[in-house]
Formats: sequence, C-alpha cells, structure tokens
Amino acid sequence: MKKYVLKAGSTSLESLVIIECDEPKVKPGEVLIRVHACSLNFRDQAVVTGNYFGGVLTEDTVPLSDGAGEVVAVGDGVTEFKAGDRVAGLFFQNWHDGPPNPAAGAALGASGCNGMLAEYVALPERGVVKIADSLSYEEAATLPCAGVTAWNALMCGRNPIKVGDCVCVLGTGGVSMLALGIAHAAGAHVVVTSSSDEKLERAKKLGASGFVNYRNTPQWGPEAAAASNKGGADVVVEVGGAGTLAQSMQAVNFNGEIALIGVLTRDGDTTPHPLMMKGSSIRGIFVGNKTMARDLAAAIDVNGMKPAVDKVFPFKEAAEAYRYQTRGAFGKVVIRV
Ligand SMILES: NC(=O)c1ccc[n+]([C@@H]2O[C@H](COP(=O)([O-])OP(=O)(O)OC[C@H]3O[C@@H](n4cnc5c(N)ncnc54)[C@H](OP(=O)(O)O)[C@@H]3O)[C@@H](O)[C@H]2O)c1
Repeated sequence: MKKYVLKAGSTSLESLVIIECDEPKVKPGEVLIRVHACSLNFRDQAVVTGNYFGGVLTEDTVPLSDGAGEVVAVGDGVTEFKAGDRVAGLFFQNWHDGPPNPAAGAALGASGCNGMLAEYVALPERGVVKIADSLSYEEAATLPCAGVTAWNALMCGRNPIKVGDCVCVLGTGGVSMLALGIAHAAGAHVVVTSSSDEKLERAKKLGASGFVNYRNTPQWGPEAAAASNKGGADVVVEVGGAGTLAQSMQAVNFNGEIALIGVLTRDGDTTPHPLMMKGSSIRGIFVGNKTMARDLAAAIDVNGMKPAVDKVFPFKEAAEAYRYQTRGAFGKVVIRV
C-alpha cells in the first residue's frame, strides 16, 4: 500500500513524502479501513509547519485527522462494525461521550498518532464512527474535525440553536461553511462575514441571509448584528481568534454564546467586558466526541445537507491540496485516495 508521511522535524511541505509499505495487520479491537477520501483542516497546515500544539513532529507521522472509507476487516472482539461498513475516523480517538476531559486521547494526524492520509488505516473500534448514508466518501471526509466542531458549537452549548435563531459565521472556510449548512437546516438565520463579495454570493446560495465584507468593514461586529433577524447572533462561530473576538462580542446577542474555536489571527483586544451587559458567554470548543459525530451524521441523513466541497485532488497531488487550502478555499478541500 501507499501512504504519506510527514518527516520528523517538519517545518514545510518539503517533508511530505509518499512511501510504500505493508498493509497494517488488524489487531484485537481494531478495524481495518480502506480509506477512500481525506480532507484538510487549518490545523493540518500547522502540523506541517511545526506550529501545532507540542511543536514540531518528533517522529515520522501520517498526516490528516479526517478520512472516510470502507471497513475491510475487523479484529477479535469488535462488535460495532463489520466488513463493508462505511466509516470515518474520529478526531479524538478516546472521547466517546460527555464533556471535554483529559482522557480524550490522541488526535489523529499529529504528534504521537498517525492520521488518515493512507490507503489503509487500522484504528481502535472506539475511534471510528459510521458515516451518513446520504453522503459520498468525499463529502463524509469533510466532517470528523470541521463538521463535529460546527455541530458542537451550534447544538451542544447552553442554548442549542432552534428555528428563528441567528448564527454568525466568520469567513467561508471549512468550519464556517459546515456551520452554515447545519444552522440553515435547523431553521436559523445565518449571517456570514468574508473578505470576498464573490464568496458571500456563494454563501447566499447555501442559505445565508446576512452578509458583511470584513475587509471593507474592519469593525464588522455592529454590522453583523444589524444584519441579523433579531439584533444579534445567538451563536457566533468564532474561528478568527484574538483579532476578531472584539467584533464577535459586538455581533453576539443578549444571552448569546461565542463558540471559541479558531486561531486564524493572533493579536487583538480580548477584553471580555462587552459580554457582561448582554449576559452572553464564551465557550471553548475542541472538536467533539463520538456521540456528536453520530448525531451530526443522523441530522445530515434527515435534512439532506451536503457539505461544501471546494475542490477534490487526486492522492498523488496531496501537496497541491495543502497549497490550495492556504490560498483560502470556500468550504473544504478533499483528497481522493
Ligand atoms: N477548536 C477546534 O476544535 C477547531 C476545530 C477546527 C478548526 N479550528 C480552527 O478554526 C479556524 C478555521 O479552521 P478551518 O479549518 O475552517 O480553516 P480554513 O478552512 O482554512 O478557513 C480559512 C478561512 O477563514 C477566513 N478567515 C481568515 N481570516 C479571517 C478573519 N480575520 N476574519 C474572518 N474570517 C477569516 C477566510 O474566509 P474568507 O476567504 O471568506 O475571508 C479563510 O478563507 C482555524 O484557526 C482552526 O485551527 C479549531
């Protein structure tokens, strides 16, 4: 089989190499997956450049947390899966249910845990979930990190969103466009910010109804609140980080929640006081658990929601897929395996 490896000490894509090796032997409690598609997340770029948590890779590592495929063999003791099942790996290999906890385990595709960019991958049964019947492998491969994060942000907070609520998503990247899809399916009004009017037009076709160009309007928070159906967003999908938080606090509604997700910007005013008068809060999000991944798949099957896939690259062009994503994709970038 073939797989990609990021060499130990990687600081650039020069370290991404494809190698031939034996297929993994399935051990007791594991499932062997023939991977059909993977997707890229912003964090996968940080793993390449050595800027992910923990710094540079200390050993050669198969990259990417997100991949979907077909079970081809199961080890002794496996009860949840059988050959032929359509599955995806979970971002956290050991977080089944309940709140965030220190035992969530390794995250696929970073230091200490090989990821999905390989023709065959063996994972523990607990670290695998069935994918939505209504999605192709390429669509399902967009969900383990970005989709579960978006689901957690919108559906697992203090006030899960409901019909007539307002959600504000920052930018048109992977997490934000999946959040747009989930919020729209739930009957919420969605305000989108972007640096590009053309991308705002594309978001309109996916169901968004409020639009702010944050490049033309750097103080975009009040404008996003005004574009809402109720004076502010019940949930802000905060993928921007320190540089956008002050505006997110302007955009959020009374009794609303800022889902603190991203680190796209590092500098800015993070004074939390604007939340005080509104009784709003900030909730830290770190992807999510297996139950969230299952619930997301079930909701997708009911609603017919389709993840926004910007472009699909062949396996041999994985490095080009990484480069394409850094240029600002609309939704997700996928690699067909
Ligand atoms: N905490 C978690 O569990 C978790 C999970 C997933 C992702 N994340 C984080 O969330 C962030 C987004 O991840 P992703 O995979 O969705 O990234 P992505 O697909 O690469 O999205 C990048 C997009 O973000 C938008 N953007 C960039 N700077 C912005 C700014 N200053 N204000 C508003 N939007 C901005 C741009 O949209 P336009 O081109 O439309 O301007 C850009 O195309 C990253 O920091 C990632 O590490 C965290």
